[in-house]
Amino acid sequence: METVTNPLAVVTGASSGIGYELARQFAAHGFDLITAAEDDALASAAATLITQGTRVEAIRTDLTTREGVETLHRAVTATRRPVAAAALNAGIGQGGAFLETDLADELEIIDLNITSTVHLAKRLLPGMVEDGEGRMLITSSIASTMPGSFQPVYNASKSFLQSFAQALQNELKDTGVTVTSLMPGPTETEFFERADMLDTKAGQADKDDPAQVAAQGFEAMMAGKDKVVAGSWKTKAQGLANRVLPDSVKAQAHRGMAEPGSGAEG
Ligand SMILES: NC(=O)c1ccc[n+]([C@@H]2O[C@H](COP(=O)([O-])OP(=O)(O)OC[C@H]3O[C@@H](n4cnc5c(N)ncnc54)[C@H](OP(=O)(O)O)[C@@H]3O)[C@@H](O)[C@H]2O)c1
Repeated sequence: METVTNPLAVVTGASSGIGYELARQFAAHGFDLITAAEDDALASAAATLITQGTRVEAIRTDLTTREGVETLHRAVTATRRPVAAAALNAGIGQGGAFLETDLADELEIIDLNITSTVHLAKRLLPGMVEDGEGRMLITSSIASTMPGSFQPVYNASKSFLQSFAQALQNELKDTGVTVTSLMPGPTETEFFERADMLDTKAGQADKDDPAQVAAQGFEAMMAGKDKVVAGSWKTKAQGLANRVLPDSVKAQAHRGMAEPGSGAEG
């Protein structure tokens, strides 16, 4: 029988964007992977990761459903291997005026960004604590630090994750398990297109490189840090400014970036 010595990492939303780059970081650092996403692209992403010499099990599952999260968890337990690290990263947004967007879209944001993250953390953390070691990375956002006019449910979902991650980090401080919040700024992924925000200033502005964001997130997670504002110097400066700006000012600034039609080509 083959002896497996590599540590195992779980990455959700690993088919594209930040999650895919996080998976590449894990692979480059000698982790085997269980990756999860909903659509076909997960298989080709996994095939590329395998060329990096890592073992990858790709689980196609809809994490907006409780059964979908349990499917992923069953795949993890079936390996009978300890989970050394988990990046709970899958997430979606939806731009638009709250009075005009579909409630179903907003409830889906809550189901994926919030409910699936809490559910998966609940399933994975006990084993890590029992092992006395483990690293969890939760993809929050710099959006967690500002009220998100024209994207209110998304920003609020990230505020939830921010608080959740920081609370767990404190609760688990004597266990050997750490929980790090990854706070990217606007990053070049499929996010803005999927959120119907291509006609906004935020959708059209230059964005950070997902590979850079993931590298900084991975490093912070491995170091057991509480949180990291990841990306360019501009994003880091925004993170610092958001610490002191009043919420009303940040909400107005967010309107300027996210209001439908605010982009030059809107
Ligand atoms: N891009 C940004 O500017 C930015 C900034 C801050 C934070 N973030 C956060 O970063 C995380 C990753 O987003 P991204 O920017 O990399 O966008 P992305 O390229 O659209 O990636 C989203 C990932 O989530 C997966 N996903 C979506 N719905 C799912 C579902 N129902 N079940 C399972 N997986 C699902 C997608 O897989 P499928 O395609 O298979 O659905 C994909 O792998 C999100 O939490 C996002 O909120 C992004």
